[in-house]
Amino acid sequence: MNKAVFFAVLLVAVYLAHDNEARVVKKDRARRGVVAIAPLAVVQKRRDRDEQDLSKVPGVPGVDYPLFRSVPPTHFDCNAVPARPGMYANVETGCQAYHVCHDGREGHQGAAFLCPNGTIFSQKEFTCDHWYNVDCQSSPSYYSLNLDPAKNPYFERAHKEAAAAALVHF
Ligand SMILES: *[C@@H]1O[C@H](CO)[C@@H](O)[C@H](O)[C@H]1NC(C)=O
Repeated sequence: MNKAVFFAVLLVAVYLAHDNEARVVKKDRARRGVVAIAPLAVVQKRRDRDEQDLSKVPGVPGVDYPLFRSVPPTHFDCNAVPARPGMYANVETGCQAYHVCHDGREGHQGAAFLCPNGTIFSQKEFTCDHWYNVDCQSSPSYYSLNLDPAKNPYFERAHKEAAAAALVHF
């Protein structure tokens, strides 16, 4: 064998060995990728099931507490609340829905959200709580808690934004 042929064969051999190695690494990475994604899918599935498993929630679903799939049409009106920005329980939905009223960007009902099934919006705590901890009907008498910066999570932010805007214009 002359030298040129020898080196050509060597080159091809090195190339093939390298290519094979790369393929093995690629395959391994692909396999690891599947393993890394799989637990996420399992967690997501488990979470979906937990949300629908109401057997551990005391009371009769749909009777003792509401089961809305989306925020239904109601008469709630951000123009009738004591403070904006603010968070307000929607009594017509048994307090499963609540509204964030601010500058009117999102219409007269603000941004509406649903608490997870089994929970309703606590106007005293400004959070979704177990239905049996909340007296929904009395919510409007706590609407004015939105005037309290310690309660209303949007209060501070809005005032800081206003202060920042004032500084810019200064
Ligand atoms: C509440 O439960 C009902 C009935 O299972 C379901 O259709 C609805 O999507 C659930 N709502 C929420 C907010 O999870």
